Amino acid sequence: MLASHPKIDLPILHLVGEEADRLGLECYVIGGYVRDIFLHRDSTDIDVVVVGSGIDLAQAVAKRLGKGAHLSVFKTYGTAQVKRGKIELEFVGARRESYQHDSRNPIVEDGTLEDDQNRRDFTINAMAVCLNKDRYGELLDPFGGIHDMNKCTIRTPLDPDITYSDDPLRMMRAIRFATQLGFCLDRETFDSIERNRERIKIITKERIVEELNKIMLSRKPSVGWILLDKTRLLPLIFPELSALKGVEIKDGKGHKDVFFHTLQVLDNLAQKSDNLWLRWAALLHDIGKPKSKAWDDHAGWTFRNHNYLGAKMIPRIFKTMKMPQNEKMQYVIKMVDLHMRPINLIEDTVTDSAVRRLLFEAGNDIDDLMLLCDADITSRNEEKVRRFHKNYELVRQKMIELEEKDRIRNFQPPVRGEEIMQLLNLEPCARVGELKNAIKDAILDGIIPNEYEAAKAYLMKIANQE
Ligand code: CTP
Repeated sequence: MLASHPKIDLPILHLVGEEADRLGLECYVIGGYVRDIFLHRDSTDIDVVVVGSGIDLAQAVAKRLGKGAHLSVFKTYGTAQVKRGKIELEFVGARRESYQHDSRNPIVEDGTLEDDQNRRDFTINAMAVCLNKDRYGELLDPFGGIHDMNKCTIRTPLDPDITYSDDPLRMMRAIRFATQLGFCLDRETFDSIERNRERIKIITKERIVEELNKIMLSRKPSVGWILLDKTRLLPLIFPELSALKGVEIKDGKGHKDVFFHTLQVLDNLAQKSDNLWLRWAALLHDIGKPKSKAWDDHAGWTFRNHNYLGAKMIPRIFKTMKMPQNEKMQYVIKMVDLHMRPINLIEDTVTDSAVRRLLFEAGNDIDDLMLLCDADITSRNEEKVRRFHKNYELVRQKMIELEEKDRIRNFQPPVRGEEIMQLLNLEPCARVGELKNAIKDAILDGIIPNEYEAAKAYLMKIANQE
């Protein structure tokens, strides 16, 4: 009985119950909102299922709430939404669904509360709380959702083969919930996902990515990727990531398993940053390794230019996965491309010029890049890890000093193209660009300071020398 629970004992839910009584309709809060009460998670979206017309009840509720409420009706779907402040109430009539093999779109008929609970994805999402006055707060948990929550298990109410085959997106949802909530997949659920995995092909990429983004934003995203791998969904939805798996051995020498290294980098980064796109960059930072892998009799396994090859793969991956083709993708490309630079700075002596060039190329994303590079240190050799972190600290220090002096992060050429043309009496031509670049290089190499007068003098000097 949840009548006095603060998330159920809300004036707006009492009002919904009263209007339902007046119209002679049974109504229940259902799904994620009920689940999240037990998991102590915040949620403001409240799904209300009505045995009868959801739209009629939504209209009555909106009328009672008056001005402060906003009603939207979606006739084709038989649903309606009432928004008031932060709270969003979604009204839908209880339904029974039957599916055909080649489509996610079911044939929908009116049904009872039980029919409606039967068609839901997981036991933890199928619990309902009655809002009618005489049964207010009564919990209906026919499939043992509470029991499964206590056992931290994701399980389907019906035979999982039916649940997943009906709506294969639920395979992704199962793995996403397991990752978000720190739950396990029930054995039958797991086996069924593996059996039904090919059905994922009827799901649009956009919906798959929506679930992947939720996995990526979880506290420990590796959980989701490992489950995707174990259920064998991974090669179907993201073959390039699957290709990172495995270790090849030659002359007794193996290399790191890039898949598991990648997941560790992702988890390391997730502890430091909530930036979704930086997390994607962590997942993709070594995506070019299989293409660049080579055996060298002296050096053993090498992955030359894997950062560059990886960066080049990203536009195609984003396009196929229907991910954004905008500045977010450019940011991921930049991170992947630059992720080896700080480590190379450490291996050579750290010259001011190299640090300035890195600052110039990374611009305002330099701090993110350093977070990624820190996360990329996954060696089991503690001494090595300490050394890397210490060296990165030195690089950071040098960056701060140089940035204070030269302001390279947001580099703008101190002498502009227009002025070069005026000073040297030039028409627009390639030469102007070359001179501008020469000034930029002189600043990055520390030959001149990043200042107008010095840059102008340098320009006149190199122009006269030629
Ligand atoms: N649902 C389902 N099958 C789906 C999607 C949703 O059975 N493929 C049901 C579940 O009962 C779910 C409810 O619809 O609880 C609401 O779905 P949604 O708003 O997508 O998810 P939530 O469970 O509320 O969780 P989240 O907001 O984290 O996505």
